[in-house]
Amino acid sequence: MHPDGKQQLATIFGTPIMKVESGLQLLKEEIDYIENIPTKDKLKDDNVAISRSVFLLDNDKKLTVIKDRMNKNVIDYINKTLCVENKFKMTNSWMARTKKEHHSHDHKNAIVSVVYYVKADDATITFQSPNNWVTKAFNFDLNIYEYNDYNSLSMEYKVKTGDFMIFPGWLTHKATNNSDSIKTIIGANYFIKGEVGSDWNTTSLKL
Ligand SMILES: [Fe+2]
Repeated sequence: MHPDGKQQLATIFGTPIMKVESGLQLLKEEIDYIENIPTKDKLKDDNVAISRSVFLLDNDKKLTVIKDRMNKNVIDYINKTLCVENKFKMTNSWMARTKKEHHSHDHKNAIVSVVYYVKADDATITFQSPNNWVTKAFNFDLNIYEYNDYNSLSMEYKVKTGDFMIFPGWLTHKATNNSDSIKTIIGANYFIKGEVGSDWNTTSLKL
């Protein structure tokens, strides 16, 4: 035993984020098909063009492989972090194309969200938090000498074609496309379903 005791550091009450690198590689024809899905707005330099359908993966059977893989990744994420028997289901799903930046936002009405990178040559997703574990309780102006998972207020992930990112819907994030080619993603939100709670606890909720 070390004379000063044995240190054990763990992340508790942390926010889990899961990246699945190269989780699904589509054929060129499949990527072309997704890139041509009709959008609400025409794509410009400074906007995000989102598919007209926001139930894209429920309605388009050609995209079943993506839906199935998203469901699998979300179940893995929930099983590894929440460890609950409750079921979750995909609610909204959409395609989004960006030339440069997708501004800071969160996904309302979602418990878990997924992004699948259909085509991303050089992109990042940055998760943001207003506070770390100290500033949550007291708004110190700290002199941080090294940033890590515990003290940082933002965390950037590099992402590329074929990757998945899974994260809580409430978590603020922004996305940047660093390449000259258009970035295309499919996003989806998940919500809890079935019976949550119990009559015994007077918490029964049927969703
Ligand atoms: Fe988003």
